[in-house]
Amino acid sequence: MIRTLRAAALALPLALPLGFAATTLVHAHGDGAPQSIDTTGLEPLGDDDRDKNPYIGNAKAIEIGASGYNKNCARCHGIDAKSGGMAPDLRELDKTEASDIYFLTRVRGGAQRDGRYRMPPFADILSQEAIWAIRTYIESEADKDPAIAAKIN
Ligand code: HEC
Repeated sequence: MIRTLRAAALALPLALPLGFAATTLVHAHGDGAPQSIDTTGLEPLGDDDRDKNPYIGNAKAIEIGASGYNKNCARCHGIDAKSGGMAPDLRELDKTEASDIYFLTRVRGGAQRDGRYRMPPFADILSQEAIWAIRTYIESEADKDPAIAAKIN
């Protein structure tokens, strides 16, 4: 009995970090499951949808948006928001308010074709804050590429 307890006491601290590491690894590689993102530090927006991105140029939004993008979008829309051809290049959406609304709506709704999702809907996963942060990040990536910037500015 005492032996078993001691073995358990030894095993526990080992098992915990291992389990944790495994989860972290899966997430780091993007197992495909959409993930919510922590938007602490951004102005909370409440329940009403904004009709334009409230975080344009906001450094904190860019940082949070980069992480949200990498976890949820990069596997289809490309690293650094540069499309590899699998899905549209999101940097090419212009910066008008119409595009802001389009972005919010598309991200929430995803994309279906022939009854199958080509892009999952994020309505239940990402808050309004998170989606605007991702949009802000993508715009900052667009600004870094003169060819893209020339097209959309
Ligand atoms: C499983 C792959 C996949 C993932 C993950 C994904 N998308 Fe998409 N997305 C697509 C595809 C494919 C399309 C084009 C769909 C179509 O043709 O209607 C698309 C279209 C879009 C559009 C419309 C683009 C346009 O030019 O009209 C937006 C905006 C968008 N995605 C944003 C996002 C964001 C932001 C994320 C992450 C939160 C994301 N997507 C995650 C595959 C994906």
